[in-house]
This record gives sequence, structure tokens and C-alpha cells, in this order.
Amino acid sequence: MEIEQESGGGGGNGGCADHNEMGLSKGGDRDHHDHEGAMMYLVWEDLTVVLPNFGNGPTKRLLNGLTGYAEPGRIMAIMGPSGSGKSTLLDALAGRLSGNVVMTGNVLLNGKKRRLEYGGLAYVTQEDVLLGTLTVRETLTYSAHLRLPSSMSKDEVTDIVEGTISEMGLQDCGDRLIGNWHMRGISGGEKKRVSIALEILTRPQLLFLDEPTSGLDSASAFFVVEILKNVAHAGRTVISAIHQPSSEVFARYDDLFLLSGGETVYFGEAKLAAKFFAEAGFPCPSRRNPSDHFLRCINSDFDDIRAVLIESKRICETQNSFDPLRNLLTAEIKAMLIKKYRCSEYAARARARIQGISTIEGLVFERKSGGQAKWWKQLSTLTRRSFVNMSRDLGYYWLRIAIYTALSICVGTIFFDIGTSYSSIFARGACGGFVSGFMAFMSIGGFPSFIEEMKVFHRERLNGHYGIGVYMLSNFLSSFPFLTVMSLATASITYYMVKFRSGISHFAYDCLDLICSIAVIESCMMLIASLVPNFLMGVIVGAGYLGIMMMTAGFFRLLPDLPKIFWCYPVSYLNHATWALQGSYKNDLIGLEFDSLEIGGPKLKGEVILTTRLGVNLEYSKWWDLVAVVVILICYRLLFVAILKLRERASPLFRTLYAKRTLHHLKKRPSFRKLPSFPSARHQVQHSLSSQEGLNSPI
Ligand SMILES: Nc1ncnc2c1ncn2[C@@H]1O[C@H](COP(=O)(O)OP(=O)(O)OP(=O)(O)O)[C@@H](O)[C@H]1O
Ligand SMILES: [Mg+2]
Repeated sequence: MEIEQESGGGGGNGGCADHNEMGLSKGGDRDHHDHEGAMMYLVWEDLTVVLPNFGNGPTKRLLNGLTGYAEPGRIMAIMGPSGSGKSTLLDALAGRLSGNVVMTGNVLLNGKKRRLEYGGLAYVTQEDVLLGTLTVRETLTYSAHLRLPSSMSKDEVTDIVEGTISEMGLQDCGDRLIGNWHMRGISGGEKKRVSIALEILTRPQLLFLDEPTSGLDSASAFFVVEILKNVAHAGRTVISAIHQPSSEVFARYDDLFLLSGGETVYFGEAKLAAKFFAEAGFPCPSRRNPSDHFLRCINSDFDDIRAVLIESKRICETQNSFDPLRNLLTAEIKAMLIKKYRCSEYAARARARIQGISTIEGLVFERKSGGQAKWWKQLSTLTRRSFVNMSRDLGYYWLRIAIYTALSICVGTIFFDIGTSYSSIFARGACGGFVSGFMAFMSIGGFPSFIEEMKVFHRERLNGHYGIGVYMLSNFLSSFPFLTVMSLATASITYYMVKFRSGISHFAYDCLDLICSIAVIESCMMLIASLVPNFLMGVIVGAGYLGIMMMTAGFFRLLPDLPKIFWCYPVSYLNHATWALQGSYKNDLIGLEFDSLEIGGPKLKGEVILTTRLGVNLEYSKWWDLVAVVVILICYRLLFVAILKLRERASPLFRTLYAKRTLHHLKKRPSFRKLPSFPSARHQVQHSLSSQEGLNSPI
């Protein structure tokens, strides 16, 4: 009953009446109109995250038995010193913890355990992952077309985008590029606001933000939090990790989760936190910012700073009976607060509230995976966006097109007018081998830009903006014109300079063969990018793979001479370069006649050279070779989709298995026991400033 009252109009806060005082009514009005769908009650119970250490060292407890809840209509701040576990808590709630940590405890959404990754919620991460080649307005417009319902007219979508731009104060930089490695773009604070704008565009029911105000001046920070508050008060659940907010910003939050060393120092209404600290014996001085005071009390780094200053005699250690902060070590204060909170009315109230939430009936969970736009609209929008990105990013294709052109001219001059003499037989073979082998190999040059695009895909995928299949298709369609230009440039320069077998169909075959080969390598790089953790690994694995493909293509070692086991069957059959090279040889040599080694000897037929000298199988036509390359291309693209889908489906299973095994392993260790909640001051270790606080606790 009480919950329904609170959630209805964003009540339970008392501060919602003034939520338009900043003149932010535009977004607020939209909230009231589009407020529909399920309320999101998020509960976490006894949430523990450990970083297992299978060696002799202690296992680190990143989060320790956290319990809390987030309700619709309210905005929660997760606060704590750096390294206290704010991002880890958000990741744990969002189901996005990295694979090397283990989580125990429950995360319940509307009373049930659900998978929140891939579309369950909107999450603005600490790092901004954006396409640097787009302007702010383009970024938001493409995103809006990707996710807003297809039934909305273009004008309606534009209104929403413009509304969000002015809501986030981005009018001045609306038409400026975001910026990347070779283009200076908007500032860090503006990037942060773009990231937030992207997620609030669709007014998600559950919104996580990791330090949305970092890098912003106090006015912008206030502005951003005010907008988030509006979003929350329209019935959404908003959780935001925040670093040292100003008192004005802090006052905008409804709830506070105060963390230190992965432990709960306080959880409850933000405005009651000062009362809790006063009750615990650490009242906030009247002229101090409450959030500064809370962090001053729990940040163990102050102990280290004090120790260093005392040692260097820059301050003298005096006792002050009026200021507990000066008499006690921060570690002691922190431990006292943690203990005090556990048996406080605030903790009891939180537990009661969690009970209350679990009894609310009729709560549903609408997973808006893939956004609300139809797939074809997503496909056309993504294709356009990707095309614009590719055409503006110098390193994606343009540099390669230039290098391909230059290299083709080199090849053309080296093998110029190759003719049909006896020596030209080998020259033709070498030229064909170089063009289809090395030229295709150069596709690896676009890998860095591709990885950047994949990062954006990964962020959008986790937030459920669109599906994997749509992305794969859009990437193929947008890259196709560039592949065509690249292949046409290479094929026409080499074809006409070297003077390969004349005839338009032969030229067309050469172009198609090269387009398909480069497309296969692009797809293969895409596949590798989805499997490896970073760019360097991608380049190394990609280069290694392409090296093997070149070796087994039939130029360096003739196909009939390849060792039958493994290299011939299956590698050479799975290798696109084998088919591409055979097709290219057939295209060039069939029908030609070459001079014999002896002067005046009988002419050598191209077909004979193909079978006897180049080991090419003539039982099927060159077009079948091309078909084989296309089939391999399709297989790579499908494999990319399958691997990503499998990863999404299988990773929770693997994580559960890993967690079970790890916990089983750790329980056997003598050090696997809970720390006493209130470690005595005698046992306090002095942490170095550089060490992350609270993580040296053995489990
Ligand atoms: N996957 C992981 N592997 C190893 N250590 C981790 C992992 N995740 C988190 N940590 C450690 O846990 C601690 C808490 O990290 P977290 O990023 O949650 O801190 P934070 O409160 O968000 O800090 P900041 O305010 O600086 O962003 C850090 O010491 C970090 O090194
Ligand atoms: Mg963080």
C-alpha cells in the first residue's frame, strides 16, 4: 500500500514538487506522457563479490554482504571513497561483473531473479564509449531512430532528440564532432553528458549511472542530477554512483548507499544520513558539506596522509576532545560506523522494506531487448550510421584504399605487360599469388577502427539497443561500397597494367574474386575481434591466421604437394584463399598459349600449365571457386552471430559453474572465513595510499 503511494507520482520524497524549478519542464512533461510499463523494484540481499586467489595470498572481498533496494520514483546515490566498490556494486546489480570475480547473494528485480544483461536496463558506464566521427546531434538521432518505436514520425523523433539536447545543455556543441584519435572533439564533460543523454532518450525504467557528474563543473553536475531526478520522479528507478558531490547535488538524492572497503556504512534516506552519523558520534559540522564529512569519516587514505604529515612534522599530533575525527584513525571510525549501522534502525527499516517489496503483487518485468523499433528500421539506421563512421574515419578504409592503389601501381610496374613468354608463366603465378594473398592480407589495417566500432556495439548490445544479426548485416552492407572501391582500384590497375587475360568477363571475375576475398578477411577479422580481449591480441591472432591461409593457398606449396592430413584436409578446403587463387589462375590462364622453353618448340596450353605446374584442379569451372569463397564468407558471418549469441547465452552458465567451483575450493581453505565485522584497532593495518582500501581483508 505504502509502496504504491510512493511509486505513483514519484512521491515518498517530498522534493518532487520543485522538480521543474530549473526550467527543465520539457523532459519532465515527456516523462508524464510516456510513463508506462512496469515499475522496477530492485533488491539485493547479502551481496558479496570476491576476487579469488588460488595461490597463497588472501582472497579479496570486493563487496561484503551488502543488502539494499532501489524503488521507482527515487534516485539513489552510491557513495564511497575511490576503490570502495561503487562500480563493482553497479556491475553486480547489472549482471556485468568481469569473469575473474565471483558473486554470491541475490539480486531480485520485482521479486524475481532475472538476467539483467543484454537489455534489462540502461547503464551509463564510467568510461564513455562513443563513435568519435559523429556529431552530438547525429549520435542522438541515430540512437533515437534505433530505439524509439517505428510508429513515431521523423518529426516526433527529432523533437525528442532536440528536447534531450537542450535538457542536457548540449545545444552549443550539438553540431560538433565527438572526436577520436585524429580529431579533437568535444570536452570530457560534454562526452559524459552525451552518454547520459543517449540512455535517457528512451526514458528507461531502470537506469544505472557510474559517476555521471565526474568531469563536470558544479553547475553542470547540478543540472545533470536535476534531470536524473526528474527521470526518477516520473516513476523510474535510478541508481547512480557518485564521487564527492557538492551539498546542492547531494541534496537532490533521495537515498544513499554509503560504501567503504566494500562494506555498508549507511543505507537509507539521504537526508537521514547526517542524523545517523551524529548518533554514531560523528556529527557533521554545521558549515561542512555532508557528503565531504561522510567521506572524510570513512576514507582510510586520510590515515596514511596523516601518518606521512606527522612523520614529516608538518602537523603535530594533538588530541582534541571536541573533534573525534582528529582523535581516531579513519579505519576505526569506519569500523564503528559499519558496526553501528548493522544494528541500527536504518538497517532494520531496510530489511522490513525488502520484505514489503517482496509481497507486492502484480509486478511485471518487460524486457525491451532490441529496442522498440522494427528490425528493418534498425538495419537501415545502423547501416547509415556505420557508413558515415567509415567514410569519416581516415583509418577505417581511406588509408587502405590509398595504400592499395599505390601498391597496385607498384605491382603494375613490376609485372608490366607480362606477355606470354615462357618466363611469364611463373611471373603470372607470382603476380596472382601476390594480389590475392598479400593485398587481401592488408585488410588487417582496418582492425583498430573496427575494434572501436565493436566497443560501441558491445555497449549498445549490453543496453539492449538492437540484435546481433542486425549489427552483422549493417556492418556488411556499410562496408561493401568501400570493399568494392578498394577491389576495383586494385583489380583495374593491376589488370590493365599487367595485361592479364583480356575480356570484360575476365576483368569482372578478377574484381569479384578480390571483393569476395577481402570481404572474407573482413569477416574473419570481425570474428577474431569478437573473441579476443584487446586490439593487440586481435592483430597478432589475425596476422597469424592470415599467414596460415597464405601458406596453404597453393602458391608457396602446390595443393597436390600439401601434406594430406590436416594441411590439405581440411585446412586448404576451408581456406578461402585456396579457392580465390585457383579461380584467379583459371580466369587468367585458361585459353592462353605460352612459348615453350626451347625456341620454336610447341606452344604450352594454359590448361596444361594449370594442372602440371600450378597444381590446379580443372574438373570444375572458376565460377565454382567463386561460389566456394562466397560460401566461406557467409559461414564466417553466421559464425560471428552464432559465437556472440552463444557467448551471451552460455556465459551466465559458465559463470555459475565457475562460482560454484571457486566457492567450493575456497571453503576448503582455512583462510575462508568471515572477517569479524568490527576489527579491533590493534589489528588495524596501515594501508599505503596506493593500495585500494579495504581489499586486503582475507576471507
Ligand atoms: N574484476 C576485478 N578484478 C580485480 N580487481 C577488481 C575487479 N573489479 C574490481 N576490482 C577491485 O575492486 C576495487 C573496487 O573497484 P571499483 O571499481 O568498484 O571502485 P570504485 O568505488 O568504483 O572506485 P572509483 O571511485 O575510483 O571508480 C578496486 O580496488 C578494484 O581494483
Ligand atoms: Mg568506479
